[in-house]
Amino acid sequence: MDNTDVVLITGANSGMGKAIALKLAQTGARIVMLCRNKERGEAALKEVQKLSGNTGVQLMICDLASLKSIRAFCAEFKKKYDRLTVLINNAGVILPGYYKTVDGYELQFGVNHLGHFLLTTELTDLMVESAPARIINVSSGAHKMGKIHFEDINLEKKYKFWRAYAQSKLANILFTYELAEKLKEKDVTVNSLHPGAVGTSMGINRDTGFGTFIMKLFKPFFQTPEKGAQTTLYLALAKEVEKETGKYYYRKKSVTSSKQSYDKDMAKKLWEISEKMVQL
Ligand SMILES: NC(=O)c1ccc[n+]([C@@H]2O[C@H](COP(=O)([O-])OP(=O)(O)OC[C@H]3O[C@@H](n4cnc5c(N)ncnc54)[C@H](OP(=O)(O)O)[C@@H]3O)[C@@H](O)[C@H]2O)c1
Repeated sequence: MDNTDVVLITGANSGMGKAIALKLAQTGARIVMLCRNKERGEAALKEVQKLSGNTGVQLMICDLASLKSIRAFCAEFKKKYDRLTVLINNAGVILPGYYKTVDGYELQFGVNHLGHFLLTTELTDLMVESAPARIINVSSGAHKMGKIHFEDINLEKKYKFWRAYAQSKLANILFTYELAEKLKEKDVTVNSLHPGAVGTSMGINRDTGFGTFIMKLFKPFFQTPEKGAQTTLYLALAKEVEKETGKYYYRKKSVTSSKQSYDKDMAKKLWEISEKMVQL
């Protein structure tokens, strides 16, 4: 990677996103850190710029829980950059309790899947123009417990936060496989991954701080964000995967995902319902 590369990382102010931003900034690439909170974003930006010495690292604010914010972000991004060679859809949320996005969708499906679905589809043309390019969707092993509840996609009838998270992470993989198929002639690869169990801010409510104590308790058993970032970095940088597409990785190896993640009808149905939900 060098300064002809433009890399966009979502959720780049914390955990693995920040570790990925730092490593990629050290290659000299132009990095855009997509963060939802200005204060947290600016603090992370300063840190990444200082440690990497790369002044081409920029912060852009976007709330993936708001379709309007995503559309405004994409318009601004296209004004500032005429290329996008690596898109890392890393941001994620898992929260006990039922929350909704600005547009009224269940939060975890809304941010983890729909937010990235809209962001990616809005930026796909630019990536095709910038090819070769890579899209990396950070999923989770939790997808194996997931189902897409088409009849109650917002889980209003039967909510469990874990169910909602697993649904969103299965959606990440179905989206990966479907998009890879659509882009297979375009030299834009699309892959997904499970980073392992990583000690980050996942599960902590940013407004109330709920979850901080539990996370502290478990942190010694988890990988560091730097270790957790390795498979994503591998997919972004490694020469041997430059042509690999439509795959799911764990520990830098292509592995099989759950049986239903390969269901093409389900992927198509999810694509259609997602298009409707994001008003494409
Ligand atoms: N940690 C694990 O064990 C683990 C395991 C499997 C998969 N994963 C996946 O790894 C990815 C990275 O998570 P992490 O563990 O590094 O957690 P993290 O430290 O909590 O980072 C999550 C990032 O997502 C951002 N985010 C949340 N909601 C957002 C929104 N509405 N708009 C924009 N950004 C938003 C957060 O911003 P704020 O800081 O402002 O909240 C934060 O920067 C996630 O997709 C997660 O599902 C993690």
